[in-house]
Amino acid sequence: MSKQDEPNQSAGAQEDGETDPVEELRERRREAELGGGEARIERQHEKGKMTARERIDYFLDDGSFTEVDTFVEHRSTNFGMDEKEFPGDAVVTGYGEVDGRKVFVFAHDFTVLGGSVGEVVADKICKVMDRAIENGVPVIGLNDSGGARIQEGVDSLVGFAKIFERNTTASGLIPQISAIMGPCAGGATYSPALTDFTFMVNDTSHMFITGPDVIQTVTGEQVSKEELGGAQSHSSKSGVAHFAYDSEEEALDNIRRLLSYLPQNNMEDPPAVRSWDDPDRAVPEVADIVPSAPRKPYDMTRVIDEIVDEESFFEVHENWARNVVVGFARMDGRSVGIVANQPRVSAGTLDIEASEKAARFVRFCDSFNIPICTFVDVPGFMPGTDQEHNGIIRRGAKLIYAYAEATVPLLSVVVRKAYGGAYIVMSSKFLGSDVNYAWPGSEMAVLGPRGAVNILYRDELSEAEDTEAKRQELMDEFREEFAHPYGPAKRGYLDDVIEPKETRRRLIDDLDLLERKREDSPPKDHGNIPL
Ligand code: HXC
Repeated sequence: MSKQDEPNQSAGAQEDGETDPVEELRERRREAELGGGEARIERQHEKGKMTARERIDYFLDDGSFTEVDTFVEHRSTNFGMDEKEFPGDAVVTGYGEVDGRKVFVFAHDFTVLGGSVGEVVADKICKVMDRAIENGVPVIGLNDSGGARIQEGVDSLVGFAKIFERNTTASGLIPQISAIMGPCAGGATYSPALTDFTFMVNDTSHMFITGPDVIQTVTGEQVSKEELGGAQSHSSKSGVAHFAYDSEEEALDNIRRLLSYLPQNNMEDPPAVRSWDDPDRAVPEVADIVPSAPRKPYDMTRVIDEIVDEESFFEVHENWARNVVVGFARMDGRSVGIVANQPRVSAGTLDIEASEKAARFVRFCDSFNIPICTFVDVPGFMPGTDQEHNGIIRRGAKLIYAYAEATVPLLSVVVRKAYGGAYIVMSSKFLGSDVNYAWPGSEMAVLGPRGAVNILYRDELSEAEDTEAKRQELMDEFREEFAHPYGPAKRGYLDDVIEPKETRRRLIDDLDLLERKREDSPPKDHGNIPL
């Protein structure tokens, strides 16, 4: 029996027949902790899911959880609800610590009316969100809910509106992280969508606006829950989920890891750790990873892994829009955001999804004082009617907007090539980048040699006896003119051309210098990003 469970000796109220108030409190807590009861807890376990309290216990530092609103109960009387009592209702809320830093948490309790959100569930969630905003502390939501509580009608919908309003207020003030650990349907999906990062669990979590039954009724389409809104679909096709893991434990461990890169709020710097990796370490390997042939694919994450502190790269959205890579890392112990083209996928072109993925990441880093290092190797925007008709102009503009608006330190390295609009977009000097480098052998131009020659010398090529030989000759001439970084370096568009092996040391030096960077923008309500 733990100390906490021992009967209270001092009250002594039992002797005169009255209830010991402290014992009563403990009994009420025990009752609340059972949520919907043992049978439903067992059913939750049978589905391979933890209960709300088990999740919180696993997630937070040992013994750090303080629960609030344990005794709050619903006030609903319809549909026999007046006969149902659930202390705490269908959500567990409170605060605790992750690696000694405070966080607020709420976890839907699926054992109580399927974790459905009625008036007081929403009020409990709003209370912790308000406190998180007031105190500048991240808020983590562990979602496992049937959505709006049907018995409470429009009160439930209003509850969601209150939560969405707070999600929006909190955006850019404190990090908000959502884990989906069960169903998340209808409008309920929009709260996680408004947060900064969404984690899902393979097989046991699902998100959709309308489920398979409604889809079949309305459109006739047949689709399974998993295919429609499972973790794999959302982390690789829709981009709704940033992370997908095989177990709840793995998802919770990785939320802790993510938090280790983030400040508590927008007024703080991200936490720095003591790095065991030498800041002056040369990285000669990177020159071997990047082929000199401009079209040959390679894996950009290998370049990133060499340059950042050892094993510090934590990729975000790893399986969606894979032609661009984003994630957090450390440079001499300091948090940085990484954005990079990925020549291994679609030659690293920027398309709609890649632009949106990178833009959202850049904006997150900018909100939370995290400097951004951009590694550039991009042949341009993805051509095609599909891209044009789906709005590559409008949606690609988001990335320009995000970089141009960012006031955090921006550093970039062109490692092989940067053509056309994509050169400008990827953290170029006049979008506000602080430090721009290129490796020798890299090239920057309006078009790649083949495209440029085909347009500039159309007549010569059509008249040439051997068109291909002529094209090759003209491409060689073009390369001589543009296939090196000294043109932009002469104009100051690049601050320097650096040896690949120096990249880590140079970027760390610059990050040191830029630590005190202050950039003010003229006051305005907010800009009008092309959404
Ligand atoms: C009240 C609910 C509920 C809900 C589930 N329950 N969802 N109670 N309101 N929305 C209850 C069930 O009646 C059941 O109670 C218990 O929770 C467990 O549910 P099961 O159906 O037995 O569990 P399971 O088979 O795992 O299915 C889970 C489920 C399913 C997929 C979530 O229950 C379901 O489809 N529920 C309805 C989902 C939905 O349409 N919600 C509204 C979305 S619209 P008992 O007592 O039998 O154990 C929305 C609008 C938000 O959320 C708008 C914001 C603007």
